[in-house]
Amino acid sequence: MAADQENNTGPGHVAIIMDGNGRWAQSRGRPRLFGHHAGAKRVKEIVRACKPLGVKYLTIFAFSTENWKRTQTEVSGLMSLFRQYIRKEARGLKAEGVRVRFIGDRLKLDDKLIALMDDLEAITSENDVVHLTIAINYGGRDEVARATKRLAQDVANGSLMPADVDEETLPRYLDTHVLPDPDLVIRTSGEARISNFLLWQSAYAEYEFVDTLWPDFSDEEFQKIVGAFGGRKRRYGAVPA
Ligand code: IPE
Ligand code: IPE
Ligand code: MG
Repeated sequence: MAADQENNTGPGHVAIIMDGNGRWAQSRGRPRLFGHHAGAKRVKEIVRACKPLGVKYLTIFAFSTENWKRTQTEVSGLMSLFRQYIRKEARGLKAEGVRVRFIGDRLKLDDKLIALMDDLEAITSENDVVHLTIAINYGGRDEVARATKRLAQDVANGSLMPADVDEETLPRYLDTHVLPDPDLVIRTSGEARISNFLLWQSAYAEYEFVDTLWPDFSDEEFQKIVGAFGGRKRRYGAVPA
């Protein structure tokens, strides 16, 4: 890509840190899980908004490797919400041409949830309208550590030479190996941090931090942010011509 070029095409891959569910609920005097349920309802609308905007890949952060630090009530409520969500939405996602993938370490999740995730990936595997990736028990550092472990195994068994390890090789071991890097990362709720999301992949992503709490995030706001992306100049380290 030419240096200092404006993006006349939109972001092909948008990643979202869906934050603020707890505060949204608390401001209404309701338990945090009420906010998570309200937040889950926003996902469908945002997924639907992708196709007309030319967003082929949408990656959403649902549960981080650090979120286990929350109360048992909240963690088990979230796990149960994920199961409900998959059961309820699977048919619609398949019918709408959404290909669903999950990233993150599955080993810590319960068997029922893993089975539902596997099934949703399988039944949508032929779809190609929008690629929705849901990050559950995902942490960027954990992902790089797991990738490095597998890479080291390949070095140990002789299928990879240490001299061949470079920035093309390592991402092939990441959970996201089949996805392009995100062009735009949006975080809701006013926090300006990335909280361990897509650390490797977002090296040159554009960031948008908005104050809206996730359960209030609308497709209008999403459209506005995606539309404004075209005006950004991405230089990738080069000097403008
Ligand atoms: C984001 O909302 C969803 C998850 C982390 C699961 P939060 O639960 O972090 O909401 P706040 O940040 O406490 O408001
Ligand atoms: C990031 O939000 C994780 C998800 C949105 C799933 P957190 O609410 O967990 O992040 P911190 O704790 O504010 O950094
Ligand atoms: Mg939060």
